Amino acid sequence: MAKAIYPGTFDPLTLGHIDIVERALNLFEEVTIAIAVSEKKVPLFSLEERIDQINNIFGNEKRINAIGFSGLIVDLAKEQDSNVLIRGLRAVSDFEYEFQMASMNRAMSPELDSIFLTPKAQYSFLSSSLVREIASMGGDVSSFVDPIVEKDLKEKFK
Ligand code: COA
Repeated sequence: MAKAIYPGTFDPLTLGHIDIVERALNLFEEVTIAIAVSEKKVPLFSLEERIDQINNIFGNEKRINAIGFSGLIVDLAKEQDSNVLIRGLRAVSDFEYEFQMASMNRAMSPELDSIFLTPKAQYSFLSSSLVREIASMGGDVSSFVDPIVEKDLKEKFK
């Protein structure tokens, strides 16, 4: 199978996201990490900062490509000539939202399939907003994010 798209806000990318990307690389030749502008979420990191973080973290892996997007994910998938979306499922509580999104995306683009991967159990409770909150209060996030993101968080909240 050729190319899969892994969309999300990635504000910031966590070790849980990295775990999903690594699993996706075992299944697909290429993985495009599609970073949503997500204005409604008012991200801490700008799109450029999130793209840089991801490029620096996966620097040597030529099969990974990080891009930003602001429209519909179904349009991006067509543009990128991909029929597969990867999403992470951390817990049962993620299922309802993910099922709804996958169904809406299928209604708009019937050839597009969503594939759900589960991260290691130790990342099943992780979320970007909790990481941001812990970092903003001076907590240690080194077991949740890559050192590159840890440094950027320290910089933001110093
Ligand atoms: N490890 C750690 N955290 C994870 C995770 C994993 N494996 N998988 C998900 N999460 C967390 C994220 O950190 C995030 O946490 P936060 O809300 O505390 O910041 C949360 O789960 C969900 O975020 P994310 O996976 O980034 O998804 P999202 O809901 O922000 O993004 C889009 C969803 C961008 C994919 C979706 O809104 C989209 O496709 N937008 C484009 C517009 C569109 O097409 N809309 C119609 C969709 S039907």
